[in-house]
Amino acid sequence: MTKEMLENIVLPEHIGVIMDGNGRWAKQRGLERSEGHKAGADVFRKICDYAAEIGIKYITFYAFSTENWKRPAGEVSAIMDLFRDYLFEAQEREEENIAKGMRIRYIGDRTALPEDIVNLIEQLENQSADKTTITVNLAVNYGGRDEILHAVKHLAEKVEAGELKADDITLKDIDGNLYTAGQPDPDLIIRPSGEYRLSNFLIWQAAYSEFWFSDILWPDFTSDDLDKAIIEYSKRNRRFGGV
Ligand code: IPE
Ligand code: IPE
Ligand code: MG
Repeated sequence: MTKEMLENIVLPEHIGVIMDGNGRWAKQRGLERSEGHKAGADVFRKICDYAAEIGIKYITFYAFSTENWKRPAGEVSAIMDLFRDYLFEAQEREEENIAKGMRIRYIGDRTALPEDIVNLIEQLENQSADKTTITVNLAVNYGGRDEILHAVKHLAEKVEAGELKADDITLKDIDGNLYTAGQPDPDLIIRPSGEYRLSNFLIWQAAYSEFWFSDILWPDFTSDDLDKAIIEYSKRNRRFGGV
């Protein structure tokens, strides 16, 4: 996107990306599904850098859902290996990421992830906690329903302990107990691969999101495609229930 274009559009503050279509991309090429995930991970890196470059403040990448454990063990472990590689690399490139002002956060249920991955996530979150140019949320073992359940349990514990009255629970209390607490809701959600669904992604936060769908498979997704989605978004008329 040119500087001139950027000056003339309203950028979404928060973009959600459902990185789908890796398996079909690999199949088209006669490759293993894991090769598709590898190509998808490279695209994730590029899009992440590009989003920072054009001034997006928050971007959330859906990499692995709470339902994706249903897949063959070999595919699951290949995805976890790619996640581990990315975390190692991000740690090695600490200086570079600091210069980019990139804050990395994990969203999802980390208790089910391998311990070494959890440790890497925590180190990365701590290292980058004070960065403000862009916040990158990595959604791995993330599920919107699981996230809401987690928030409800936390609030129920407070009620049980007599710290909160059930009748006093507000929307803010629920928001504040989600993995995305403190972050704005996604303005724009992008789903490539020709599927028209959320697949349990940010279901609470997406109440008023704008959607952009495309047949492109994630490993073929480019910064031009992100531009297209943003330009279309900037022409939408958001009403939030008003007139
Ligand atoms: C998205 O690609 C990555 C994950 C869900 C982990 P898929 O693996 O779902 O690719 P398709 O949908 O089978 O093509
Ligand atoms: C959604 O893709 C999850 C991620 C991209 C991480 P899926 O491929 O799992 O979604 P469905 O099964 O087509 O709904
Ligand atoms: Mg899929």
